[in-house]
Amino acid sequence: MGSFVGRKRMSCSYYVPFDHHLLLLGFFFVSLLQTVVVESKTLNYTRYRQVSSLRLERIQRHLDKINKPPILTIESPDGDLIDCVHKRKQPALDHPLLKNHKIQRVPPKMPKGMKMKKRVENEKEEGVSDDNKGAGAAVAWQMWHRNGTRCPKGTVPIRRSKVDDVLRAKSLYHFGKKQRRIPLSRHTDAPDVVSGNGHEHAIAYTGSSEEVYGAKATINVWDPSIQVVNEFSLSQIWVLSGSFDGSDLNSIEAGWQVSPELYGDSRPRLFTYWTSDSYQATGCYNLLCAGFIQTNSRIAIGAAISPISSFDANQYDITILIWKDPKIGNWWMSFGDKTLVGYWPAELFTHLTDHATMVEWGGEVVNTRADGQHTSTQMGSGRFADEGFGKASYFRNLEIVDTDNSLSSVHDISTLAENTNCYDIKSSYSNEWGTFFYYGGPGNNPQCP
Ligand SMILES: *[C@@H]1O[C@H](CO)[C@@H](O)[C@H](O)[C@H]1NC(C)=O
Ligand SMILES: *[C@@H]1O[C@H](CO)[C@@H](O)[C@H](O)[C@H]1NC(C)=O
Repeated sequence: MGSFVGRKRMSCSYYVPFDHHLLLLGFFFVSLLQTVVVESKTLNYTRYRQVSSLRLERIQRHLDKINKPPILTIESPDGDLIDCVHKRKQPALDHPLLKNHKIQRVPPKMPKGMKMKKRVENEKEEGVSDDNKGAGAAVAWQMWHRNGTRCPKGTVPIRRSKVDDVLRAKSLYHFGKKQRRIPLSRHTDAPDVVSGNGHEHAIAYTGSSEEVYGAKATINVWDPSIQVVNEFSLSQIWVLSGSFDGSDLNSIEAGWQVSPELYGDSRPRLFTYWTSDSYQATGCYNLLCAGFIQTNSRIAIGAAISPISSFDANQYDITILIWKDPKIGNWWMSFGDKTLVGYWPAELFTHLTDHATMVEWGGEVVNTRADGQHTSTQMGSGRFADEGFGKASYFRNLEIVDTDNSLSSVHDISTLAENTNCYDIKSSYSNEWGTFFYYGGPGNNPQCP
């Protein structure tokens, strides 16, 4: 409530660099980490379920349905096949509610206050965006661009799903779906805190009394290691509406994730997710079910991000904006400064056809407690928040879109981490980074057994 009141004043008083106690604590953790070198096991991605030929046929039929006939296929150095599919053949249009959907080319209204600087699209993938020079980080792009071939006009790039991708999932039904976040006891004002099924978070969130029409952030990209194939580590924005307690939570999500189960490797990938019934029957990751409409020929959802940040060296980040077009009501997503990726049609949702009631930013991991211990699956860079720039992962320039379709820095945020000995979060404010936070951690360590 009243989050924009006194913004100017806050921008001075907010800038409190981490105090000495925290710094000392940081050193303490660093020395701890050095003594606990967890042996990194190579995951075996080819340990599939054994399935009958009948099952294989069924899987193939499903894949034939979701993989649309490509006009051109581009092979990425990481082994991905990127299919350039005619816009009107994309999987979204299989959705029963979108049979006669007319694909929007651009949203009629962008949020006000958006820097729409003309940036020459990075032909070279490692190109540094001028917008980010001051921030000390460069923009991360996508690995398949290294092939050099582009998808032709009028097509959209879609990562092809393979039989192996399905075989790594628990079942065909579970492929591309998300395990339900089971809410435990919560304060009415707090976001979904779900430690019950192994999901752990380090997040910042807005108060629940606001009407929110979008959210934006620039997210540092790392490749956290994952100990067990069916665990994951992600860093994302959640745009939420409805109730966690009911069965009708609407959620739109985007960011990067490392998910060996979903992708068969340990690379951070751009992902999207949506649900309109609390992660039950509707929704899925990326384009693995009908829903998200892609409009861009350069960004493939589910594709590996490259380059990625290195410890105490080059930092890379991605900027994601999700907002509701006030005229038609679709929820759009843009990547970088101005690249429109596509949109979630208003028809997909119930509560989100109106507005969002909460935004969350931050990290989530799954800890399966394999071997009876907290696993060493990392969040962010695998370092605690105190370590700061170049070491810990960050979200910067947290912004929300208000009733007036204006983008502005978010000021009233709360933070939450279930167990700060495993993963933590520290938020702050600066003129350049606006509201920002560092977050993450190593998972298993003597304080997080
Ligand atoms: C992975 O698991 C499969 C099936 O269990 C096995 O055949 C293969 O040799 C394993 N690969 C590695 C690298 O351990
Ligand atoms: C680019 O993709 C094409 C088509 O799949 C493939 O034949 C070619 O080898 C790829 N080029 C590079 C440089 O990876």
